[in-house]
Amino acid sequence: MLDQKTIDIIKSTVPVLEEHGEQITTVFYKRMFENHPELLNIFNHANQKQGRQQRALAGTVYAAAKYIDNLEMILPVVNQIAHKHRSLGILPEHYPIVGKYLLLGIKEVLGDAATDEIIHAWTEAYDVIADAFISVEAEMYDEAASQNGGWKGFRPFIVANKVEESEVITSFYLKPIDGKALASFKPGQYISIKLEIEGEEFTHIRQYSLSDAPGKDYYRISVKKEAGIETPDGKVSNYLHNSVEEGEVLQISAPAGDFFLDTERDTPVVLLSGGVGLTPMVSMLNTVAELNPEKEVTFIHAALNGKVHALKEEVAATAAKAKVNSVVFYDQPTEEDRQSNSFDVEGYITKKWLKENIDLDQADFYFCGPVPFMKAVNSSLKALGVTEDRIHFEFFGPMASLEA
Ligand code: HEM
Repeated sequence: MLDQKTIDIIKSTVPVLEEHGEQITTVFYKRMFENHPELLNIFNHANQKQGRQQRALAGTVYAAAKYIDNLEMILPVVNQIAHKHRSLGILPEHYPIVGKYLLLGIKEVLGDAATDEIIHAWTEAYDVIADAFISVEAEMYDEAASQNGGWKGFRPFIVANKVEESEVITSFYLKPIDGKALASFKPGQYISIKLEIEGEEFTHIRQYSLSDAPGKDYYRISVKKEAGIETPDGKVSNYLHNSVEEGEVLQISAPAGDFFLDTERDTPVVLLSGGVGLTPMVSMLNTVAELNPEKEVTFIHAALNGKVHALKEEVAATAAKAKVNSVVFYDQPTEEDRQSNSFDVEGYITKKWLKENIDLDQADFYFCGPVPFMKAVNSSLKALGVTEDRIHFEFFGPMASLEA
């Protein structure tokens, strides 16, 4: 337990640290990677370059510090991050390293303003916050390893099948090479892939949502080939598309994530996706269709046009079998799309369309897609009176804000 004086110091200095957030985190990461280059095997180097992760980690430490005397308040956030950490293989011994360099960043940037008293208080506070993460993550490691077909760390999987789903999205069917049982998962969860790319000094770890229902002898991911191999997601996704063929072995960590379909609720479900954001939604759709084909589901997908629209036939086939209303939006349909009637609405998903076409009073809404799509859907649903407990979403990459 921290004493009241320490708590007071922490709370009064949070705004100062937030003000210098960018500088502190830049110094923190620079020094940490200089001294522990091995950590570049776990951190997303591309996110580092962009500064997104830099802001996410330190920003969360400051946010947590505001609730240092009542950390239960931020447990949902801790839980979400802990899923990501567990999926990446973050261990207790990593925490003191982050703590040391974060403190160093604070000292270096604040200079004389960072008195011994302040540094001491922040050292204590960081330990309390780190302990909260470490204990939540320990439970998650145990849970992942103890379930049937589960495991800890990374397990080798073979690419059993590689299927092109659209001009930009390709599915990979992954089976464990030990031939043993495969852990179930909740529809909406993701796995991490750890890749060694020839000629690259460090490994790359990326998360991909599972795109089929659980209960199969494989995991399926459906990966979008991002433009430009030097962009953050481009490097790994292009490598998967261009260089990983059937028979190749990939290192995979057990399914994780707190964005998943609640299969216990008997309310109707509306699944909305933009672009490759459809992957967790298809997993949810296939799961409902298998477990509860009588459940009312609306599957709304927005894509640029038919060329980049993935898993089209699969969704149509599932919709035909279960009580699924599937609606396709194309923003820029091609002539071929028009001739083949392969979409229902031209343009974006709007508040007006949702109001006129969706029963907003009872359904649970799940959505995933690019940030502008997420912002538009989120604000439309809220404006239409959908309560927060019925709104569920997930971002790609580091968490971002949905506020305008
Ligand atoms: C991701 C916070 C400790 C490695 C994240 C994210 C947050 C965060 C907010 C983004 C989550 C998301 O995108 O969903 C924290 C806090 C920590 C902490 C508050 C300490 C109390 C650590 C430690 C390590 C670590 C000790 C390993 C040395 C990572 C990595 C990612 C991540 C690799 C993924 C993002 C990327 O690849 O760049 N963390 N973290 N974190 N964290 Fe932590």
